[in-house]
Amino acid sequence: MEKGLFIVLEGPDGSGKSTVAKQIAAYLMQKGHHIVFSREPGGTPISEKIRDIVLDCKHSEMAPETEALLYAASRAQHVAEKIRPVILSGKTLICERFYHSSLVYQGIGRKLGVDRVLAINQFAIGDTYPDLVLFLDIDPEVALDRKTIIDGGDRLEQEHVSFHRSVYEGYKQLIHISPEIKVIDASGSQEEVFNHIRIELERIL
Ligand code: TMP
Repeated sequence: MEKGLFIVLEGPDGSGKSTVAKQIAAYLMQKGHHIVFSREPGGTPISEKIRDIVLDCKHSEMAPETEALLYAASRAQHVAEKIRPVILSGKTLICERFYHSSLVYQGIGRKLGVDRVLAINQFAIGDTYPDLVLFLDIDPEVALDRKTIIDGGDRLEQEHVSFHRSVYEGYKQLIHISPEIKVIDASGSQEEVFNHIRIELERIL
């Protein structure tokens, strides 16, 4: 059986990852793909429990190394229990965030170093790399305004704008050294954004 596709969406909070995931699913379903959605950290019961630990506001004493290892542990379980079996069964998996988030947030944001964080993630994911990684490129302030207008924003989305700005700059640094990431201008209308994405999808179909 032919392997399914593994598509990852990266980008700042409010960049429209969930909307784009649904648009990609609709487009690929018309072409006969069976779609499975997922997200990180999370995606399986064990990974969701790790998510609860890592995102718990009470855990302010968590060391950056612990944080990076927990994200990688959550990912290892997600790959073993869901991502790999789904794509081996021929279905297409669309995931919001994957190891590039760790490279940005822990490698650059927490200053652990992209190479060190990549090493633990290589151990976690083995040979399960995405077929396509899309970075939804939108100014973090514009993205946050959009998200906050829609749902008021969660704890993280309410963080100071300088935090979101530094995450965005981290993505920009990572993109510079990661040719596998395809940058999508996400500032236009949903239709305009998807027109760019369709071009990238056609390349891997
Ligand atoms: P979410 O809001 O997209 O569900 O992600 C939860 C938070 O976890 C978000 O602030 C990004 C962060 N994160 C990391 O720091 N490292 C990772 O590897 C992943 C997947 C997410």
